[in-house]
Amino acid sequence: MSEIATARRSVVAGVGSALPARRVDNAELIERVDTTDQWIVERTGIRSRYIAGDGETTASLAHDACVKALEHAGIAAAEVDLIVLATATPDQTFPSSATKVQAMLGIPDCIAFDVHAVCTGFLYALTVADSMLRSGSAKTALVIGAETFSRLLDWEDRTTCVLFGDGAGALVLRAEEGTRGILATKLHADGRHNDLLFVDGGPSTTGTVGKLRMKGREVFRHAVVNLADVLNEVLGIAGLTSADVDWVVPHQANVRILDATARKLGLPPEKVVVTVDRHANTSAASVPLALDTAVRDGRIKRGDLIVLEAMGGGFTWGAAALKY
Ligand code: UT7
Repeated sequence: MSEIATARRSVVAGVGSALPARRVDNAELIERVDTTDQWIVERTGIRSRYIAGDGETTASLAHDACVKALEHAGIAAAEVDLIVLATATPDQTFPSSATKVQAMLGIPDCIAFDVHAVCTGFLYALTVADSMLRSGSAKTALVIGAETFSRLLDWEDRTTCVLFGDGAGALVLRAEEGTRGILATKLHADGRHNDLLFVDGGPSTTGTVGKLRMKGREVFRHAVVNLADVLNEVLGIAGLTSADVDWVVPHQANVRILDATARKLGLPPEKVVVTVDRHANTSAASVPLALDTAVRDGRIKRGDLIVLEAMGGGFTWGAAALKY
């Protein structure tokens, strides 16, 4: 590994996550659609997911994740001067769910806005917050990925309804001088593919919320190529190679995508954090949820070199390299 230069960086001060109360395993879905536990496990690795109930929303889950992240960081909510919330399932079309979280945390004034890049949303939010912290526009940020995708699902479409779940994850980022923190980020979008994964509604078209539609096999094909490429790109920008990586924290869409991407990079499967079995695909929430899981169970330790990656509707995709 080449030496990491001292600079003003966005350091991860704390992590937190939140899940709805209700856990739904594959057996429950078999009663709703023509599927089997074997098909879901073999094709995706998913065994269960959490589904939001009455009163549980994107903003409420985001708030709960933020409380835990602030506690983990030992930082008071009053110190937060920036909230960036990644979601494709906001509580309302407007105001932003970020401002709802701000109000719930009792922060009278800060910068707060939502970012929308579907499953890549957290990487987009992290990149925006990192730029603002490094440029000096903010000092302490909450970067959140939070979703209630269950409310966009067509519960009669077996090709999609078994794949997704709800949840939230949050990071507290602090601008600090040093060698720890975010080392590099890289984002992409290619709107030519926006008909492969989309919602068939919206305020400016049908006036309805709509339902999620996906051509899964085609998304899968693009995902493995794009994710391996962007991980190599971000490692290159940071002056690192895959041999320097302690942990990959990927977007959790399908365990076969995680395995194939790791193989392409020559990374052993033990270095890949997998939560898709428990959480399913929680879109923008999946990366911070997986990061929080691996920090809290003791796998990820201070000083570890971590790469994050995600790919989603648009298409959008991106990656980040950080020293935890
Ligand atoms: O988060 C954003 C990024 N999203 C992703 O990365 C998702 C990427 N795609 C995938 O993970 C996979 O493509 C899926 C899990 C969505 C599907 O797996 P697949 O191996 O690509 O299956 P397929 O779509 O090619 O379908 C194979 C068969 C079809 O039947 P026929 O046409 O071969 O008779 C489907 O109708 O499996 C059938 N099928 C199911 N069978 C039982 C599809 N869904 C189900 C189901 N239960 N739930």
